[in-house]
Amino acid sequence: MSSFLVKALAIGALAVPTFAAPSSIVKKSQIINTSAKQAAIDLCGTSDNLVLYDTPWIVYNMFYDAAGSVGTQCTRYDHVETPATGNKKIVWSSETNIEYVKATDNVPKGYAFVGLTKNLETTISGINSIPTTYDWTRTNTTAFKGNVCYDFMTSDTKGDSTSSDAQELMLWLQYEGGQLPIGWTDGAKATIDNLFGTSWKLYEGKNDDTGITVHTMMPVKQFEGSFSGDLKEWLEALVQHGTFKDSTYVNVGNAGTEYFYGKSNLNATLGLQIDLK
Ligand SMILES: *[C@@H]1O[C@H](CO)[C@@H](O)[C@H](O)[C@H]1NC(C)=O
Ligand SMILES: *[C@@H]1O[C@H](CO)[C@@H](O)[C@H](O)[C@H]1NC(C)=O
Ligand SMILES: *[C@@H]1O[C@H](CO)[C@@H](O)[C@H](O)[C@H]1NC(C)=O
Repeated sequence: MSSFLVKALAIGALAVPTFAAPSSIVKKSQIINTSAKQAAIDLCGTSDNLVLYDTPWIVYNMFYDAAGSVGTQCTRYDHVETPATGNKKIVWSSETNIEYVKATDNVPKGYAFVGLTKNLETTISGINSIPTTYDWTRTNTTAFKGNVCYDFMTSDTKGDSTSSDAQELMLWLQYEGGQLPIGWTDGAKATIDNLFGTSWKLYEGKNDDTGITVHTMMPVKQFEGSFSGDLKEWLEALVQHGTFKDSTYVNVGNAGTEYFYGKSNLNATLGLQIDLK
């Protein structure tokens, strides 16, 4: 699981907190391995996670800056839908209650996500498709800053998600409260048209904490609670752009929400899997 932790640092380092506010009760993280029949459960520890071994998924409460946050963050596993035809979907939510603190308003506090556990560490050319549907509603009762996104990691080395040769790919579907990607100040490196029904601006920059380059695509028109597509098209667009080749490995893949502050509930239903050739 360590790759997830490093990955969190990779997305979590837009800025370094200037102070750490004493706040959350940091408890030993729960690591649970269970089946999708598991009853609904709230994961509230800073790296609590739940592997659903009979699905492609892990549910992860990655509250990596709990120490610098005033408040709490939980990720809830609700249930898995298994339709008679078609792919499984997971129903989950992210419950943030993090106070706005001016000094850390630009510091990401964490990432709540559903990550893939199956068919990773294969090359793009070995992947047939990455079908996904992501439906969400956000209800916030104070100003919220954060996004709804996919986050993948690739490398020319199988399994590598931590060295500076690894690359982090983010596809932002929606973002609020003024969140900006790493590399924003350098301007967009490219415009990618006709992908998932819109155009995307590509931003690139190194996360100085990890040495990993982050490639973020922001839609010209944001998605308002619903997205579906084959994420292999996203990877192929980056191959065309020259970010990497078809022979690169997809080592990590997940869908989630990054958050900075706010009292908010994201309720989501996600389908996400890698289908190999
Ligand atoms: C999780 O439990 C399943 C079923 O008992 C088992 O096959 C699998 O190896 C376990 N995985 C881990 C990471 O312990
Ligand atoms: C929810 O968050 C958005 C973005 O920060 C903000 O514009 C809106 O006012 C918030 N809603 C409430 C009820 O505070
Ligand atoms: C979101 O899910 C929670 C359970 O986690 C539920 O209590 C709440 O009513 C849901 N909100 C919406 C807007 O569906």
